[in-house]
Amino acid sequence: MTTINKEPFGDIAGKAVDLYTLVSDTGSTLRVSTLGGTITSWTAPDRTGKRADITLGFDKLEGYTSDAFLKAGPYFGALIGRYGNRIGDARFTLDGVEYPLAANNGPANLHGGIQGFDKRIWQATDKVKGSDATLTLEYGSADGEEGFPGKLSVKVVYTLSGDELRIDYSATTDKTTIVNLTQHAYFNLSGEGSGSILDTQMQVNGSHYTPVDQYLIATGELRDVTGTPFDFRKPTALGARVNEADQQLEFGHGYDHNWVLDRGAEKGLFLAATAYDPASGRVLEVLTTEPGVQLYVGNFLDGSLTGKSGKPYTHRSGFCLETQHYPDSPNKPDFPSTTLKPGETYRTTTVYKFSVK
Ligand code: BGC
Repeated sequence: MTTINKEPFGDIAGKAVDLYTLVSDTGSTLRVSTLGGTITSWTAPDRTGKRADITLGFDKLEGYTSDAFLKAGPYFGALIGRYGNRIGDARFTLDGVEYPLAANNGPANLHGGIQGFDKRIWQATDKVKGSDATLTLEYGSADGEEGFPGKLSVKVVYTLSGDELRIDYSATTDKTTIVNLTQHAYFNLSGEGSGSILDTQMQVNGSHYTPVDQYLIATGELRDVTGTPFDFRKPTALGARVNEADQQLEFGHGYDHNWVLDRGAEKGLFLAATAYDPASGRVLEVLTTEPGVQLYVGNFLDGSLTGKSGKPYTHRSGFCLETQHYPDSPNKPDFPSTTLKPGETYRTTTVYKFSVK
């Protein structure tokens, strides 16, 4: 039976934060906090049917508000906005007006700035409809918040059905602005806290990626993956080439790049990536309406954060598949546009789907 339960998770500056537990008819259990719309845990079965929590995170609110977490800035499981990934030089120009942003990652603006959507408390409404459990999260971002123009009304709907999570993002604005929303879940298909993800077989359906400079800012080039460690068109272990001598891997400290999906004229959901864990048999497919996906392999995790089961999150012990428009699009006229105008509705969908093999 599909159920949803709501409980208090704590409070931040007197404001209540709730934790929702969605359980599907297959027994998939997804926990989401109204702080950042954060996925704090999600279970998936292995090939024997045994479930494990496969996302990195904490079981207490303090995990997400601690100085250590904020300093490390891994954004475990959070909704990211107003602009996912980096905006170079922490500024962009729209209709001739330059908008300065906080440089919260070297010279760049990362994941929406100092108080991005991951640090906001969202309004939640839950509903069970047949075998689907839905959690609708809403946030009103003020005009000028974190330097971005326009009052942005954002809605994110999580729908859990069986072992599949569908995420529908939408937004409207009252002034021309930029939007690029994503989900920052870290997966470890052998179970969170179980060590390296380098044995995970990854397939990414993109024959180009967007290379970066030493500050991890997209250069504007779309580079062919052929003959490089970035060719994941055939399933390949994440660890097979991650330490090869390659300037892009050096800049990223490993994979931390946006792949340009080979979606052609396909406008609907497109299979962006498939991850397979040979040890457990778990398979994660990521489908999206977005043109790109950031594959980040937890290069900045260093064991200093301890997860919900008491185990340290060591180097490369989680990977992210962040569906998105390309990084730094507001400064890259040749990239697909991230501009949203009044009267338009921003709409994207991403599906994370588990199975076994
Ligand atoms: C970025 C990484 C960053 C990580 C956590 C990813 O989306 O691409 O560079 O370290 O988020 O902040």
